[in-house]
Amino acid sequence: MGGFGLFLLYSILFSILRSSTALDSVKPSEPLRDGDFLVSADQTFELGFFNLPDSKSRYLGLRYKNIFPQTIVWVANRDHPLSNTLGVLNITSKGNLVLVNSTNDIIWSSNTTRTVKDPVAQILKSGNFVLRDGNDSNLDNFLWQSFDHPVDTLLPGMKIGSNLVTGLNWFLSSWKGTEDPAPGEFSLQLDLNGYPQMLLKKGNKIQFRPGSWNGLSFTGNAEVLRPNPSFTYEFVLNKDEIYYTIHSLVVSRFTLNPSGTPQLFTWNDQTREWTIFNAAIFDQCENYAFCGAYSNCNTKKSSVCECLDGFTPKSPNDWNLQVWSGGCVPKTPLKCSDKSGFLKIKGSKLPDTSSCWFDRKIDLKECERLCSLNCSCTAYANLDIRNRGSGCLLWFDELIDMREITEGRQDLYVRLAASELDKITRKRMRQSLKAGIIAGSVILGIIMPLFFYIWRRNLRKHGMANRSFEGNDYITEGRKEDMELQFFNLNTISEATNSFSSSNKLGEGGFGLVYKGILVDGQEIAVKRLSRSSSQGMNEFKNEVTLIAKLQHRNLVKLLGCCIHGDEKMLIYEYMPNKSLDYFIFGINQLF
Ligand SMILES: *[C@@H]1O[C@H](CO)[C@@H](O)[C@H](O)[C@H]1NC(C)=O
Ligand SMILES: *[C@@H]1O[C@H](CO)[C@@H](O)[C@H](O)[C@H]1NC(C)=O
Ligand SMILES: *[C@@H]1O[C@H](CO)[C@@H](O)[C@H](O)[C@H]1NC(C)=O
Ligand SMILES: *[C@@H]1O[C@H](CO)[C@@H](O)[C@H](O)[C@H]1NC(C)=O
Ligand SMILES: *[C@@H]1O[C@H](CO)[C@@H](O)[C@H](O)[C@H]1NC(C)=O
Repeated sequence: MGGFGLFLLYSILFSILRSSTALDSVKPSEPLRDGDFLVSADQTFELGFFNLPDSKSRYLGLRYKNIFPQTIVWVANRDHPLSNTLGVLNITSKGNLVLVNSTNDIIWSSNTTRTVKDPVAQILKSGNFVLRDGNDSNLDNFLWQSFDHPVDTLLPGMKIGSNLVTGLNWFLSSWKGTEDPAPGEFSLQLDLNGYPQMLLKKGNKIQFRPGSWNGLSFTGNAEVLRPNPSFTYEFVLNKDEIYYTIHSLVVSRFTLNPSGTPQLFTWNDQTREWTIFNAAIFDQCENYAFCGAYSNCNTKKSSVCECLDGFTPKSPNDWNLQVWSGGCVPKTPLKCSDKSGFLKIKGSKLPDTSSCWFDRKIDLKECERLCSLNCSCTAYANLDIRNRGSGCLLWFDELIDMREITEGRQDLYVRLAASELDKITRKRMRQSLKAGIIAGSVILGIIMPLFFYIWRRNLRKHGMANRSFEGNDYITEGRKEDMELQFFNLNTISEATNSFSSSNKLGEGGFGLVYKGILVDGQEIAVKRLSRSSSQGMNEFKNEVTLIAKLQHRNLVKLLGCCIHGDEKMLIYEYMPNKSLDYFIFGINQLF
């Protein structure tokens, strides 16, 4: 007993006094002891024993060599901590990578199945901790690699998904707490049922469904991933593998934190801090199936959940109490013998695909045909939205976990009874007819007096020249189209506005800057200088100006004309000191 205590004391003293050594590989003859580090060739990552603040438990883990405080990206013995600093990482005679404690019991093992003569373990530049045959000239032939066993962090090049050949399943599993790397409640994984989709689970329960990949992002991504030169996201689906991965040019990591939030971090070398690049934003709609079946979620609306057109709340009482999980049911139940059709729902997060059938080659037309052939098919959609869409997804179940994505380009076609579809189409037609009548009466109200005015004016001033037509290609064209519209020369406008001086600036609107000016003949004008970024083409601009000119009305500010010069497009209004500035900034555009 005493001898053992002495040995222990000696060992502890030894490990404290010994200076740490940096190794570039672990071999059976060169194990890694507590205090030493296995370092990647580019000095980015190191593997060694560590403990967390306020804890004596020791873990074998991988961290960035030059980032402090330590950022652990992988842990070997996450649920079997060592109780002292006497752990050793060694390679057994069978080529197994093992972590043993002071009594030589195996705490963790790589369970390598292939035996080689000359095994060697190393850290690659990517942060991958690998075991290879030291005599194998193929450096990518691994006996075992840590990238196949992620913890809570996805480093660039790591995968979330499955290898269909080996059966390996790559997923992230959160730490239990910031001080405890043991497996926590949350996991982020690719579910292979139906059409593969990314799921964030709490235990066995789906918490949040980023969803299926649409070629650009996961369907649940409220904003389409901004193209960023530092990152590329990749989704691979072939007969051997299905996975999602990130490629990055900067030091970055994607981590599922202990409270279940996935966050993408990049390292800022100037501030020496991790900055969150892209964290998932959780609102009510991100809760899985928050609105139940056949219902769309949108937190910006007064009723967060709304039944899809043609559907009605299953329990109107619950719905009124804002209990939405019951979802909606078809207004007209659909039997197999009934006639049916499809209603297009624009910009939507696609419903749960776990029972979907898919084909990546067929187009939307064929997709519709297939869905209409099987009466249990509830909806269809394009699988990939790039290049006008391709591939086919068919649903055979209730449609759950949808949300409105205003900027989304993903459309869904939902099956409805033909009679219901008819009702909706007629209702929509009535609505657009109503809108048309309103627009029509507005136009009539403006155009009729205008015609009368032009007619009278033409009677009086027939043949009279317009005021300041000036030489320019557009003039002749414009003149033919509409005698009312004047084209001003840039010099004229520049002179009138004192070369667009800031003292002449009246204000700024979404369309550009507005200046006050005085023409040579004393006429006061307001010049709306449209921003160059406006994507409107020349012809569209001219058509719009012509239209505005035709719609002149005495209650509106009078448009005198326009000025086009290269990229510059300007609208010239009569300046009326007591009109609101908004008139000049927004003008008639506001009417449409
Ligand atoms: C490491 O493994 C080798 C081969 O199995 C063995 O000879 C050696 O004693 C081990 N070293 C330690 C410190 O366990
Ligand atoms: C080493 O691990 C074994 C098995 O987990 C355990 O029974 C033993 O107590 C450990 N020894 C020490 C010194 O922690
Ligand atoms: C190795 O096998 C043991 C026993 O089957 C298992 O508990 C352990 O998780 C495995 N280790 C790894 C790294 O897969
Ligand atoms: C390495 O492999 C070659 C053949 O593949 C063999 O001839 C050689 O003896 C091996 N060397 C060692 C050190 O195992
Ligand atoms: C319709 O699709 C379902 C689900 O894929 C399938 O079980 C069923 O056999 C199909 N029915 C017909 C008539 O093809």
